[in-house]
Amino acid sequence: MKKALITGVTGQDGSYLAELLLSKGYKVYGMRRRTSTPNFENVEHIKDQIEWVSGDLTDLASLIEAVRLSDPDEVYNLAAQSFVAASWPQPLATGQITALSVTNMLEAVRLVKPSAKFYQASSSEMFGRVVETPQKETTPFYPRSPYGVAKVYGHWITVNYRESYDMFACSGILFNHESPRRGIEFVTRKVTDGVARIKLGLATELRLGNLDAKRDWGFAGDYVKAMWLMLQQDQPDDFVISTGETHTVEELVKVAFEYVGLDWKNYVVLDEKYVRPAEVDLLLGDCSKAKQVLGWDLEVDFEQLVHMMVDSDMKRLSQYKEMVSI
Ligand code: NAP
Ligand code: GDD
Repeated sequence: MKKALITGVTGQDGSYLAELLLSKGYKVYGMRRRTSTPNFENVEHIKDQIEWVSGDLTDLASLIEAVRLSDPDEVYNLAAQSFVAASWPQPLATGQITALSVTNMLEAVRLVKPSAKFYQASSSEMFGRVVETPQKETTPFYPRSPYGVAKVYGHWITVNYRESYDMFACSGILFNHESPRRGIEFVTRKVTDGVARIKLGLATELRLGNLDAKRDWGFAGDYVKAMWLMLQQDQPDDFVISTGETHTVEELVKVAFEYVGLDWKNYVVLDEKYVRPAEVDLLLGDCSKAKQVLGWDLEVDFEQLVHMMVDSDMKRLSQYKEMVSI
């Protein structure tokens, strides 16, 4: 039985990855940090199948202990301060958690189990003010947020440990991926939650920032398969994972509102509060290397993804509405 350690297992990607690895017969160790009010929402259904270890990315001793306890064949480093907008008001915390802590995790693996295969969650946000389109593994980085800058550090330190210590360390440069388990602040989920609230009479408007930004949005359930595939190769390498399609935030809004029979123009209010100090205008990934080498492909397209998320929020909020009206 293979053993995997996942950091960030309570997040969106961690929960899908844990499901995938459990279905493949892995023993899954999930690392979570202590919080006053624990949140297992994304993993409630598999909570009892996960071996829980306590650890905080910023605390090397706890990571060493997590690696020692789990003795993993594979380590998936998914934990991060992942919300780009929060990285301006909290640049130092973002740097500690999303950048420097990657070194903590790599050190823990190097010291305790250097033969373990290591996956680092890199990001298309590193391409920032893009210097070529579509973006691929060789496209230079130009990050536009403290989060993007932190991810560039995490990416290069992973490459550096691979080259310095001959560790099997891979970096997945993943473009935006979403699901019903996406955090509520991210634009896809904010929109599908907002659409459901308006449809059910729980809200009258949806306040958003820049509607012109373009993103390459895929389904998280498809993307975690690519993470696993990267660690099944003979040689460690870095891969772009994307859909190869880009859509504006406005298109996202239109598809979501139309799905429930509403015209978005009657409900969306532009609010400066959600406009960022520096924007990533366009992301569009070229994942041909992953398709060729890993044999990876998508199952869910953009419209299916948005509809899946609206359906899920409609269901959740309908149940809530019924509950409060009893
Ligand atoms: P997410 O839902 O925000 O999950 C982040 C996870 O990290 C949560 O489980 C969180 O735990 C944990 N965490 C945060 N700070 C921690 C700390 N100091 N110590 C231990 N755990 C900590 O993120 P996601 O969307 O699943 O993304 C997973 C990874 O991929 C992240 O590194 C993200 O930056 C990267 N990424 C995401 C995308 C995307 O589109 N989703 C694209 C490219 C890269 P709590 O519940 O305690 O906060
Ligand atoms: N969150 C949010 N809220 N974004 C908005 C809003 C709003 O009200 N209005 C417009 N947007 C625009 C943002 O300005 C951005 O251009 C786009 O919607 C997407 O924002 P997010 O969903 O917050 O995602 P992100 O692209 O900044 O970052 C996500 O993808 C990265 C990969 O490219 C995160 O998952 C990162 O962790 C990930 O690395």
